[in-house]
Amino acid sequence: MLTLIKDLATKLAPRLIEIRRHIHSHPELSGQEYQTAAFVAGVLSSSGLRVQEGVGKTGVVGELHGSSQDQPFLAIRTDMDALPIQESTALEYASRKEGVMHACGHDVHTTVGLGTAMVLSQMAEELGGNVRFLFQPAEEIAQGASWMIEDGVMKNVAAILGVHVFPSISAGSIGVRYGALTAAADDLEIIIMGESGHGARPHEAIDAIWIAAQVITALQQAISRTQNPLRPVVLSIGKINGGRASNVIADKVQLLGTVRSLHPETRAQLPNWIEKIVANVCHSYGAGYQVNYHQGVPGVNNDYALTQLFQSAGEEAWGSDRVQVLPEPSLGAEDFSVYLEHVPGAMFRLGVGYSDRIINHPLHHPEFEVNESAIVTGVITMAYAACKYFQPR
Ligand code: NI
Repeated sequence: MLTLIKDLATKLAPRLIEIRRHIHSHPELSGQEYQTAAFVAGVLSSSGLRVQEGVGKTGVVGELHGSSQDQPFLAIRTDMDALPIQESTALEYASRKEGVMHACGHDVHTTVGLGTAMVLSQMAEELGGNVRFLFQPAEEIAQGASWMIEDGVMKNVAAILGVHVFPSISAGSIGVRYGALTAAADDLEIIIMGESGHGARPHEAIDAIWIAAQVITALQQAISRTQNPLRPVVLSIGKINGGRASNVIADKVQLLGTVRSLHPETRAQLPNWIEKIVANVCHSYGAGYQVNYHQGVPGVNNDYALTQLFQSAGEEAWGSDRVQVLPEPSLGAEDFSVYLEHVPGAMFRLGVGYSDRIINHPLHHPEFEVNESAIVTGVITMAYAACKYFQPR
């Protein structure tokens, strides 16, 4: 079966690179994946899959039946959206859309999803099960998975597989991780209300900027002194708004940030913990405050058996020296986790780095580049893992 998959995927390689370059040069922002979705639907239809468009707003679902209709599905999810970044690579197939770029490899993910569908559609009889391909929109704004689920894509699904590119692993290799893969990512807004006044007479005012500085410092110090260092919390304030003029004391400051954590119990106590610290600092100096904590996506927690499935599929396909068991999770976020609230699943890391380059630019970088030989590696790994999933164990 592996030999057949490798043959089919290798034959498809030139077409897959064409597909990827097409998607790369026509990136679309989250929730606006109209052309990408139409293109994906076209490829799926011509491979004989049953296709549904407009799922989860701009998502696409393709179904492949290798077993009777009522059998549960294995879902394979890939994401399609790009980022608001101006591409600055010199590639001939660089983005043709001003200020929009596939800088997170979702063009590769979509291509791997399509390639897997193309390969498995040519061997549906041997497959022995049903696969539902989810081409998800709006991952970068952490909403697409919820949109897809609201439209019923998890109905009759038993497990879900996913993939994300990883520039620090060379193309030709993959990474797997047991348990936590990514962090929970929550949004934080803190508003500090002071009292305006003359810059020369601070004692007659309540300086919201100075208090905001204390709040930020207090939060960062409190992480090191009151959070369990073995259960990471990262709090980053990324935006500050406040003040009117150099000689006017600001009456109001808004802080916007992101909060990352790995453990659900840690995450649960963060809103109160933050509010207490903000309240204490503000009370000391007579300022008012408001803390708005918004829970974003939970962390991705890879299922043990499905991670093992990727590991063994990868080791059989590529040899054990090309399958890295990753020792650490990332504090990045990925809305693949939302599917995992419904079924067990796992995501593997597809190496896309160039082994002969000193620098492989990270994800979300304007010069991020993908070693395209990774696409076939991704397709073979995913297709073989799907086949193994249906084999009696
Ligand atoms: Ni991504």
